[in-house]
Amino acid sequence: MMRIFIDDGSTNIKMLWEEAGKTLTHISPNSFKRGWSATFGSGKPFNYLVDGEKYSFDLITPDVLPTNNVEWQYSPLNALAIHHALQTSGIEPQDVEVIVTLPLAEYYDEDAQYRLDNIERKKKSVMRSVELNKGSGFNITKVKVLPESIPAGVSLCADLKPSHSALIVDLGGTTLDVSMVAGQMTSVSRVYGDSRLGVSLVTDAVKLALAKAETATSSYNVDQIIINRNDAEFLAENINDPAAIDFVKKEIMSSIERLCKRVNDVISSFKGYSHVIVIGGGAPLVADSIRDHVAIRDDRFFVADEPQFALVRGLKLLG
Ligand SMILES: Nc1ncnc2c1ncn2[C@@H]1O[C@H](COP(=O)(O)OP(=O)(O)OP(=O)(O)O)[C@@H](O)[C@H]1O
Ligand SMILES: [Mg+2]
Repeated sequence: MMRIFIDDGSTNIKMLWEEAGKTLTHISPNSFKRGWSATFGSGKPFNYLVDGEKYSFDLITPDVLPTNNVEWQYSPLNALAIHHALQTSGIEPQDVEVIVTLPLAEYYDEDAQYRLDNIERKKKSVMRSVELNKGSGFNITKVKVLPESIPAGVSLCADLKPSHSALIVDLGGTTLDVSMVAGQMTSVSRVYGDSRLGVSLVTDAVKLALAKAETATSSYNVDQIIINRNDAEFLAENINDPAAIDFVKKEIMSSIERLCKRVNDVISSFKGYSHVIVIGGGAPLVADSIRDHVAIRDDRFFVADEPQFALVRGLKLLG
């Protein structure tokens, strides 16, 4: 049976699988609304039925269903997001085994022990059936659950001496996860998770600024504006009020600065690490600032290639 590695983050589902000896990846944003969408022209609507409720994929509605809360991890909307990622991956609908993730604070308790109840609950949630209207669906027959963040450090830690340790900093859409892991992965000495500190700090501030500039839009579109903040043409095309472009840009820059400061405050509470790796979609926004903040040698500071896919690559290494 096909095995698919899935980092089901709160803002984007990241997927990785093997096909004909090649490793393929796919990313799918979590942007859904209640009810179904109409068909128009050749566009294919993605209308779903989960637990008797209708949902559809929608990238433009400003008020898409929230996915940035812990309960989302075990919700019908999470199962839907996973199925939508499968549907848009190019893989033929079939029976599949999936490896999915839970945030550190859901996976481990305060004593760094597995929270088996949460792991069981997540498995059940992911196994629920999701129907695609007028299309064939995937059937998830087996689920394995791994923690977020830590697996992304597997390959780095394997190369470290046991006396060394790596700080793994994962900045996602809504969560900051930091863990300190000993070389060779012999132990995890501390984990920290803040489910309210993520790129969303920037997204929400910029969303407000855009609303003042006559541009109410979805978080997905706001994120595209943040990513393309240095592209004058992109900004001119996507901000309705030309006079407000500078104001929006300033708001982006100042909220990125605030995000960096908050992330560095958390990092300051960790001591004794020899290496640092920064992962997650937010890495490009904060990595330089973290590098300046932690006083370690340049050759011991890493930003993952394609940081948004770092976790899903680590999941594969763990099998
Ligand atoms: N090149 C980039 N520059 C700036 N931000 C980016 C870039 N690429 C992605 N992002 C942002 O990263 C965020 C998504 O990151 P990621 O996919 O790691 O989050 P997630 O796993 O869904 O969330 P979480 O881990 O908090 O549950 C989005 O806000 C996205 O806009
Ligand atoms: Mg994540």
